[in-house]
Amino acid sequence: MDLSVTIAGVRFPSCFMNAAGARCVTREELETLGRSGAGAIVTKSMTLESRTGNPEPRYVPFPGGSINSMGLPNLGYRAYAALIHELKQFGKPVVASVAGLQEDDFVTIAQAINDSRPDLIEVNLSCPNIPGKPQIGYDPETSERLLKRVRRVVTVPMGVKLPPYFDPAHHQMMAPVLGRIGLDFLSLINSVGNGLVVDPETEKAVIKPKGGFGGLGGTIIKPVALANVRAFWKLFEGKLPIIGTGGVVTGRDAFEHLLCGASAVQVGTTLMAEGVGCFERLSAELGATLQRKGYRSPADCRGRLQEL
Ligand code: SIN
Repeated sequence: MDLSVTIAGVRFPSCFMNAAGARCVTREELETLGRSGAGAIVTKSMTLESRTGNPEPRYVPFPGGSINSMGLPNLGYRAYAALIHELKQFGKPVVASVAGLQEDDFVTIAQAINDSRPDLIEVNLSCPNIPGKPQIGYDPETSERLLKRVRRVVTVPMGVKLPPYFDPAHHQMMAPVLGRIGLDFLSLINSVGNGLVVDPETEKAVIKPKGGFGGLGGTIIKPVALANVRAFWKLFEGKLPIIGTGGVVTGRDAFEHLLCGASAVQVGTTLMAEGVGCFERLSAELGATLQRKGYRSPADCRGRLQEL
């Protein structure tokens, strides 16, 4: 089945892509994504200068999920800007994920990376792992100010990667903020921040940074991801494309994201576990599910979740 989708006028040959952060830091990793069945190449969230990130161990899978506190290890925006032209030769969209340690960084990076013409820019307002830096997406005033500044310097389609919200009041508070920016898509959700995974044998936290606190991913966060996709799909009346992330382990998980309103899905924990071969498997599984249920494409079932 043809799993291609179009978001903000950009055609993706498949609705599956990597989540920013998973196997997308180095040139080699990005090229591997280019050669894979992924429908896009999403870069690691880039900062002004290159970063080695937080001390290890900083990524640990566990049954049902993963915890990470990577601390934005990346090559720095100049290296990604230089790579974008080459990555576009793979014939799929290149999505530049932009982060920053302070507000001005986002603007500087977005302006420079925009000049390299990625197909889309995803602004990451939701990294939970930089000690002393709260997730910007939980602060509506800062989010709006920052995104308006970034929007002014970005000419390619621009979206925002948000943290999970846990109360409808927070979805309702963020939607008008996001609506005032002129965004082209939303990416929902980043990891569920500041969980703690404990090894009772060693009596230690399983990761080292931040006393063991880190972002949760994988199956355990799928219901939170689906709720966020659904909430924003409804608040924007299906008019703002959403890339769903969280708990995509099987094609059926992806189908659930589509039903809730996602146009495409990103894969993090599963990509870390399986490598890029997961994209072929997920595509086959989703194709089979869509066919069995009589849908002709991912867009055909988008947002069709029925409420009881
Ligand atoms: C990290 O590098 O710590 C993860 C990035 C993110 O969650 O945005």
